[in-house]
Amino acid sequence: MATKVKDLPGPKGKPVIGNLFSLDLPQLHNSIEEWSAEHGDVFRLNLGIFDQLVVTRPSMLQKIMKERPHGFARSEKLNKVIRESGVHGVFNTEGIDWKKHRPIVAKGLDVKHQKDFYPAIEPILGRLYKKWQERAKSGEAFFIQKDLLRFTVDVTSSLAFGYSMNTIEEEGGAIQDHLEKVFPMIFKRINMPVPWYKLYRTKEDKEFDVAVLEMNRLVDEFITAARKRLQDNPELRENPPSVIEAIIVAAEEQEDISDEDVRGNILTLLMAGEDTTAVTLNWLIYLLSQEPEVTEKMRDEANSVLGDKKWATVYEDNAKMRYIEGAAFESMRFKPVAPIMLFQANEDIQLEEVSIKKGQRILTQHRYGSLQEENFSEASQFKPERWLKESRCPVHNTEAFSPFGGGARYCPGRNLAILEIRMVMSMLLKNFEVELVTPYDSVDEKMAFTMMSSPYEVRLKER
Ligand code: HEM
Repeated sequence: MATKVKDLPGPKGKPVIGNLFSLDLPQLHNSIEEWSAEHGDVFRLNLGIFDQLVVTRPSMLQKIMKERPHGFARSEKLNKVIRESGVHGVFNTEGIDWKKHRPIVAKGLDVKHQKDFYPAIEPILGRLYKKWQERAKSGEAFFIQKDLLRFTVDVTSSLAFGYSMNTIEEEGGAIQDHLEKVFPMIFKRINMPVPWYKLYRTKEDKEFDVAVLEMNRLVDEFITAARKRLQDNPELRENPPSVIEAIIVAAEEQEDISDEDVRGNILTLLMAGEDTTAVTLNWLIYLLSQEPEVTEKMRDEANSVLGDKKWATVYEDNAKMRYIEGAAFESMRFKPVAPIMLFQANEDIQLEEVSIKKGQRILTQHRYGSLQEENFSEASQFKPERWLKESRCPVHNTEAFSPFGGGARYCPGRNLAILEIRMVMSMLLKNFEVELVTPYDSVDEKMAFTMMSSPYEVRLKER
């Protein structure tokens, strides 16, 4: 028999307002895991004005992701807040709009483009190597995430916008300082019961406004440079080399793609490509501080693939780093950067035992299932081997692993992210020993749209 959302179990909260004002947002993903252990893998969160359906059951969250774009959409509130921030691209559009943006963006991020652009991306890794060599020589402790963010923004801009930014060697503040203000504010606004920021702007809101302006200024630079390239080389129109040229040409040829769409998608890529990959790398480096054997195996692989080279100078080197990729997947199983997603039902629908009404808001939490023994053998162990076909564990439920989402809206940047992780980790381990300076146990998870770590420092030693 079907169960209505209002009849599901869940944390009680206070009379009338339910859990509305008691959510600890930076720890929301952890609260959901605790509630899931207590109330089950499908439960109701009373938020006073509405009931949120919360799902951690892998089979059900896969169905939600796969029933898109027809049955489910991203949450309307998310869409609204992102649009208000001046971003309107493939991530937050729905229906026909999404169908026209997605192929253009996805094509520009595909493996062919990564291969073609590798000669432009590889020197960025060389610059990161140089920076880390200097840091090792000085013996200073430093926040490695800051360098990783610079690396990912340089790679994204090079691959997707054909524009070499070189923030790694740039002195002082870079675009990251602005980018890092954007996600936390979007997350905060999505979860605000009342949009106070529309009535009164706090210091944080003002900083956010400046950040959005600065990002738009940068995007304009990208667009101007790409328009000039197209003007100087009209033959590029036939086969646009990167996402930005592809979308500019599409906007010129198709009436239904506007200048706002061009700008929105470039901003989307800049945001989606930077934080996610850098934060994943940051978590992996942190987790490896407790995994000396895994680290040595990763280093052996890097040594054997790279030989005398300091880093992967040719694209094909990366495909051989399968153990390093397994370690990246383990890192995403324990520390997924997007553990929470928000959806809304487009129609009345029956999902397993739950009957869902049109408009129902749904929150999915993707880590809970991936840490359960019923889905992965020795689930609490960091075992990159489980991702290699030849040494797969007896229990391996791929449905319970969705760090890149699923269905038609699956992350189109997945391959690029994996490429960047292989590049950075092989270069790091081949050339340096990493010492975690900040005590391991003092580092916390913090949810701010992406799940980041609290800042930690490392020291590098040249090998
Ligand atoms: C480790 C790194 C990354 C992780 C964990 C990640 C994760 C995700 C997740 C969970 C989604 C939502 C998928 C869904 O709704 O089913 C997503 C969407 C998206 N990601 Fe990524 N991502 C990463 C890197 C990147 C990169 C490098 C880019 C591009 C430069 C990118 C571009 C996008 C875009 C454009 C979307 C929206 C897709 C759509 O709605 O159709 N991501 N990503």
